[in-house]
Amino acid sequence: MENAVTIEPPMITPASAPQQQVASDSEPDAAPERAPAFEVERLSIFYGEKKAIDGVALTVPSKMITAIIGPSGCGKSTLLRSLNRMHELVPNTRVEGKVLFGGEDIYAPDVDPVVIRRRIGMVFQKSNPFPTMSIADNVLVGLKLNGVRDRAFLRERLEQSLRMAALWDEVKNDLHKPGVSLSGGQQQRLCIARAIAVEPEVLLMDEPASALDPIATAKIEELIHELSANYTVVIVTHNMQQAGRCSDYTAFLYLGQLIEFGSTTKIFSNPTERRTEDYITGRFG
Ligand SMILES: Nc1ncnc2c1ncn2[C@@H]1O[C@H](COP(=O)(O)OP(=O)(O)OP(=O)(O)O)[C@@H](O)[C@H]1O
Ligand SMILES: [Mg+2]
Repeated sequence: MENAVTIEPPMITPASAPQQQVASDSEPDAAPERAPAFEVERLSIFYGEKKAIDGVALTVPSKMITAIIGPSGCGKSTLLRSLNRMHELVPNTRVEGKVLFGGEDIYAPDVDPVVIRRRIGMVFQKSNPFPTMSIADNVLVGLKLNGVRDRAFLRERLEQSLRMAALWDEVKNDLHKPGVSLSGGQQQRLCIARAIAVEPEVLLMDEPASALDPIATAKIEELIHELSANYTVVIVTHNMQQAGRCSDYTAFLYLGQLIEFGSTTKIFSNPTERRTEDYITGRFG
């Protein structure tokens, strides 16, 4: 990918062409052959007394893009953050049920959440480069914190991460400049480069393009599509068109419950649940 400014026309088919099309209502989309990335079992999450996620069961396919949609406050961010234990940074949270990642329970007592977060990276709604750090250091901060000192290796990983985040051509001559000197869309790609640099297996993205203009949004969507060749991506979005354009699978959440999960094609063209259809067609939310 060069630093092209041309924007692909919106994709109307799901990003990585799900391997199977839904044949009939009686056979809802079977998960792809590959072992799933996550298996969420009877998951409930509480903030103090408040139950924000209520008995969710969900299988997230690996190396695919799964979108989580639903009205504001339905629990999208909470569910997303529970996939790498990020919600634990809020005091007084409690989890019931299980999240298996590659078959392992990430909430088991002997699991270190720091290791989990290294394997399962997160990109936030608002880009958050470290304000005092250069572009290069923003990308490399995770590796340096992990004790990596080899300059040639760091340099190589810097370029590779920025290339994967489709930012290299725009910043390669300015690597020492502050990360915050970039535009909003560039800062968001910088944060994606930072997330990629530690080579996670999964990228969790919470409305990564909601603060961006249509051109920057298209770039991020194109990037997400490309990342799905190597990564499992789970993306929260408010934007129906975005979910339709850039995901393979879609989960619809409502009031903390998973109402429906299936291939994006099916959820958007022939949902099983009335509530899914009402939400997708804009009748509520
Ligand atoms: N830190 C918190 N403390 C207490 N309750 C919280 C906290 N964060 C979220 N909640 C509650 O949990 C529920 C789900 O919130 P969450 O942020 O996951 O929703 P969301 O679907 O991401 O909403 P939005 O689309 O507005 O971002 C809401 O009722 C919210 O009030
Ligand atoms: Mg949210």
